[in-house]
Amino acid sequence: MHLCGFLIAGPVVHSHAIWRNPKHTTDFLSLEHYTRIAKVLERGRFDFMFFADRLAIADRYGASHVTGIRHGDQDATRMDPMPILGALAAVTSRIGLGATRSTTYDAPYNIAREFATLDHISAGRAAWNVVTSMNDGEALNYGNVPHLGHDERYDRADEFMEVAFKLWDSWEPDALVLDRARGIYADPSKVHYLNHSGKWFQSRGPLNIPRGPQGRPVVIQAGSSGRGKAFAARWSEVIFALQPNMERMHKFTAEVHAALAQQGRPADASRILMAIMPFIGESRAEAEEKRDLHDSLVDPLVGLSTLGAHANADFSALPLDESVESVTSSGSQGNINALKSIAAGEPISIADAGRIYGRGVMCPRLVGTAKDVADEMADIVASGAADGFVVSPAFLPDTFEDFVDGVVPILQDKGLFRRDYAGVTLRDHLGIADGTA
Ligand SMILES: Cc1cc2nc3c(=O)[nH]c(=O)nc-3n(C[C@H](O)[C@H](O)[C@H](O)COP(=O)(O)O)c2cc1C
Repeated sequence: MHLCGFLIAGPVVHSHAIWRNPKHTTDFLSLEHYTRIAKVLERGRFDFMFFADRLAIADRYGASHVTGIRHGDQDATRMDPMPILGALAAVTSRIGLGATRSTTYDAPYNIAREFATLDHISAGRAAWNVVTSMNDGEALNYGNVPHLGHDERYDRADEFMEVAFKLWDSWEPDALVLDRARGIYADPSKVHYLNHSGKWFQSRGPLNIPRGPQGRPVVIQAGSSGRGKAFAARWSEVIFALQPNMERMHKFTAEVHAALAQQGRPADASRILMAIMPFIGESRAEAEEKRDLHDSLVDPLVGLSTLGAHANADFSALPLDESVESVTSSGSQGNINALKSIAAGEPISIADAGRIYGRGVMCPRLVGTAKDVADEMADIVASGAADGFVVSPAFLPDTFEDFVDGVVPILQDKGLFRRDYAGVTLRDHLGIADGTA
């Protein structure tokens, strides 16, 4: 079983209650906050931790930033994950370090440099969550208006990946010579120009950084639309999914396996990790109390602000009791389809959608003792619905502490999770071959 800790470099994660919990510190702008979390996750032998990211404050709701900023939604603050991961590389030694970067609002050369650098300084622990970005707010910050259409973003992303891969491969593994006696730094015959010229990108190359310890960083993707899954099947080595129930987890995984087969890749070429939000107590009643406390801290408006950012749509004009069926998305399609399916036939209202989104975007909740949570996770993996989990905290750092001290030892006793790291790189932890050309 593979485990990832989910984070945003800001006040909330999927849960919008995090910063409001009176028990917690509000030092999410400090390095200490992320260092504490990284150390807990590494103590729990997590494969990696990862920062989600977006490139604009949310101002879809009411065509203004007022709701998101006032209530503290998912986009009210997001610091850049890369400097944080650089700092965390120095205080950890095994846990993988993942960051989100957008193929719509960046250039392949920048991305290839950033992740090659992180891979070197972390001794092979870098991972890139490839996103195509979601909304017009992001387009407005990059002078790129209007936001490209949904499928066109993936077309651009395909070429982006081609260029990034060529850049990482532009140094052969043994190109760096470092022969001090003869004064030979590197072998020029093993460092190659790309001369890439395509529809979206021109890049001459080569990269100005030798090949990283992992060859290429681990590539993560989370698209859940049809086009998104095809993209993930072509490029990813880890797939994140957020599916609200077991039935949808199975459907998603079967579709990804079919998409991988279409790309000529085996079903285990990409590790499928399902998002979960655990609430862990000494008893079930205590876990339920924690969940209820958490939920009481979420205003439906804050969820609607984040939902608006995901769907690239303004829900402020719709009556709160209107059915969510009328919602359409030019942003994330997979998330919106999942939202419509959540009530199993019974339509849910816009206000319900705001509450669901604010409480945890739609992450399935595992509520109970550490044993209950471990058993449920074991069942999901045994059923073939996932290869592991993205653990999304409801409380910080408490959820990760409860999980590492309570759930991880049970998973270890069941023989489902490592007792110690067997290797150094993130590829070692995930059991995926090095990204050589
Ligand atoms: C666990 C998880 C994490 C994600 N993290 C991000 C993120 O950090 N930034 C982002 O723009 N999209 C993120 N997404 C969204 C997807 O990457 C994707 O861009 C989005 O779902 C739109 O694709 P689709 O229409 O194919 O579903 C995430 C999705 C999941 C399930």
